[in-house]
Amino acid sequence: MRVNAPMKVVSIGGGPAGLFFSIVLKRVHPAAEIVVHERNAPDDTFGWGVVFSDQTLGNIAAADPETFARIAADFVHWDAIDVNYRGRTIRAGGQGFAGIARKRLLGILQERALALGVDVRFRSPIDADAVRDADVIVAADGANSATRRAHETIFGTTLEGRRCRYMWLGCRQPFEAFTFAFERTDHGWFQIHAYQFDAHTSTVIVECREETWRAAGLDTMSTADSIAYCERLFARFLGGHPLMSNAAHLASPWLSFVQVNNARWSHDNVVLLGDAAHTAHFSIGSGTKLALEDAIALAKALAAHSEPAAAFAAYEAERRIEVLRLQNAARNSTEWFENVARYAALEAEQFAYSLLSRSQRLSHENLKVRDGAYVRRVEGWLAERSGVSEPIPPMFLPYRLREMELVNRVVVSPMAMYRCRDGTPDDFYLVHLGSRAQGGAGLVFTEMTCVAADARISPGCAGMYRDEHLAGWKRIVDFVHANTPAKIALQLGHAGPKGSTQVGWESPDEPLAEGNWPLIGPSPVPFGERSAIPREMTRDDMDRVVKQFVRAAHMGIAAGFDLLELHCAHGYLFSSFITPLTNKRTDAYGGSLENRLRFPLEVFAALRANWPERLPMSVRISATDWVEEGVTPDDAVEIARAFRAAGADLIDVSAGQTSRRAKPVYGRMFQTPFSDKIRNELGIATMAVGNITDADQVNGIIASGRADLVAIGRMHLADPYFTLHAAAALAYDAQPWPLSYLPGRDHYARTIRRAAEAAEVVR
Ligand SMILES: Cc1cc2nc3c(=O)[nH]c(=O)nc-3n(C[C@H](O)[C@H](O)[C@H](O)COP(=O)(O)OP(=O)(O)OC[C@H]3O[C@@H](n4cnc5c(N)ncnc54)[C@H](O)[C@@H]3O)c2cc1C
Ligand SMILES: Cc1cc2nc3c(=O)[nH]c(=O)nc-3n(C[C@H](O)[C@H](O)[C@H](O)COP(=O)(O)O)c2cc1C
Repeated sequence: MRVNAPMKVVSIGGGPAGLFFSIVLKRVHPAAEIVVHERNAPDDTFGWGVVFSDQTLGNIAAADPETFARIAADFVHWDAIDVNYRGRTIRAGGQGFAGIARKRLLGILQERALALGVDVRFRSPIDADAVRDADVIVAADGANSATRRAHETIFGTTLEGRRCRYMWLGCRQPFEAFTFAFERTDHGWFQIHAYQFDAHTSTVIVECREETWRAAGLDTMSTADSIAYCERLFARFLGGHPLMSNAAHLASPWLSFVQVNNARWSHDNVVLLGDAAHTAHFSIGSGTKLALEDAIALAKALAAHSEPAAAFAAYEAERRIEVLRLQNAARNSTEWFENVARYAALEAEQFAYSLLSRSQRLSHENLKVRDGAYVRRVEGWLAERSGVSEPIPPMFLPYRLREMELVNRVVVSPMAMYRCRDGTPDDFYLVHLGSRAQGGAGLVFTEMTCVAADARISPGCAGMYRDEHLAGWKRIVDFVHANTPAKIALQLGHAGPKGSTQVGWESPDEPLAEGNWPLIGPSPVPFGERSAIPREMTRDDMDRVVKQFVRAAHMGIAAGFDLLELHCAHGYLFSSFITPLTNKRTDAYGGSLENRLRFPLEVFAALRANWPERLPMSVRISATDWVEEGVTPDDAVEIARAFRAAGADLIDVSAGQTSRRAKPVYGRMFQTPFSDKIRNELGIATMAVGNITDADQVNGIIASGRADLVAIGRMHLADPYFTLHAAAALAYDAQPWPLSYLPGRDHYARTIRRAAEAAEVVR
């Protein structure tokens, strides 16, 4: 502990971060000599109101009850969020936020800092070099931090500009809820984010895409004309009150958000704090929250460590993960507002739900706890559209594709088991797929089933090219149909350049120790360093492969499958044609995306021509290669569009596994945004997949319209009864259970209810 040792601390910047840091440090280490340099006068801050959640208030109260009491006395609290869209207002309650004027907040922090003996100097622009002799220099000089810029390379700063322009305005209209309003113009969508922060004033942020802003001529308009334009556009929400600007010092009132990140938050005796270290988009209202929470962590770390370097390391270790979490949520939120046009086809109920759940942090159950009546209305609306008479959890809504009717939206994702001999699915597959069908999923997929022996990924892969295969699959399909309400889909594929490899629990994607077979691909580009080089396919090869797929499809029809999926993802044959990373052809099958899609589309069309008209077909794609020069999510929309034109009813939206150079960004539901994009930009049915782990997430994805079906892979390996368990947990009794298992349903439901009650008592 550095108790009572003289410590000289200088804060460059007297915004929320610098001031609150000085307050908390004075409390935990009263002997510290702290100077805060603020270039502005005490009350000439720009901006209007800031927002805090109840949780942030708790953190402030714990760090300095005095500051909390003063802030709390000035709060405007609100509970509801209103979404105004296409002439409708959708209200969701229980949101629990508080607003305060930024000026008032700074006034309270300034007074408190001065009262504790902090030397706060206004109109004092300062450079880090001028205070070099301090023990600690806190760079709290905001998103544009000059202190950080002076050592940008050392801090590893990255700045990412975003696609919208926004203007931060005030208004005398007393919005009774946090208000979002959307207006379409000839140039694109505009939205406002508005909230009251004191008895007389509200913040109104006006936002639109950069190209919309330019097309509307706002880039060349004066501040007064820009404001007049927005007043006209949003007149019906402003109650006749003008919009006010207090950013006279800025060349243009229109800002564009820049995401700031730093690989390191300290260098020598300089440490970054608040917006100087990281920014989070205003649409989740967390910039000031992060600044204040950083301030608490840094002050406490300095009091706890005698060496600044150790304190900086502890501070960064504590804060970095929380910041990253919020930045991820903020990124999803930013992208949602950048892409309002994508959601414009949604009806108001779903548009509002999509908006409320945009960050993927607020789940269906969270929303239910906040406002059960609101969620019931959404569930009722969804139910009505599916022909269901009362509100039910969205995952249990039925779904129809052509003549295939699913009892719910849960799908067992295709997963290779590597247990076949010569491609024949045996008793293991009967029990494996049979028990997952009994487990309640509406649709169960076979693994990638290969159309020829040399089309297999591994010697253990399933096939559809010999009579024994047809018999094996028919037995499984018959069991599913006779004993469960589930439907069963056949995924057909060809391993291409990723063939002849070891099974999943050995070294997947690596060649066999012996007995390898020759590979084919679009170009002689091996998948990995040790992979065999595939032979470049000729037209004859293509014709042979088309025939193999058509033969397998006919066997699929004979086996009685309900849906046929073509596997065009994960670097296997068709995926290797689609991605430019492995397709280097110079003929009609290489080069442009249109050319790279030509062969996969030929195969798809041949299948569609042979697969019964009454039954649906899907295609699995990798919506991104996670590699800069590879397939992008925008390409994925074009890929989906092309397959739809060839007759695909459903796009199964996976990602990656096409290159060893991939840098995937993992996280919960990490691939769902691609499904959202494809579904809502194209208006086609999609299936989301990837790290979707619980019923709550499935409900949220379906309710928000991010996908029509939700495929779950690994969780189904751990729990074949995922859907039945979810039905019991959600007290949804209409989910069919095998009759013999009904006593288990009630027993299970009682047991988990008691466990939940016991957990509640302990809490
Ligand atoms: C439109 C908009 C809406 C927002 N809404 C919210 C919201 O609702 N809730 C929320 O929590 N956050 C919100 N924020 C974010 C919030 O404003 C910032 O995240 C927060 O103020 C960060 O605090 P800070 O102290 O790190 O930086 P700042 O508040 O930027 O403070 C930095 C200070 O350093 C001073 N300074 C800079 N250079 C020098 C120098 N060389 N010498 C001396 N002083 C210097 C500046 O004058 C400034 O006072 C919003 C931001 C915007 C743009
Ligand atoms: C063991 C295993 C085998 C897989 N085999 C296939 C397959 O044959 N075909 C396919 O398209 N995806 C396959 N996948 C990918 C899954 O279908 C799914 O997309 C992936 O596991 C992500 O979903 P999850 O996070 O719910 O597991 C496999 C995944 C696992 C774990």
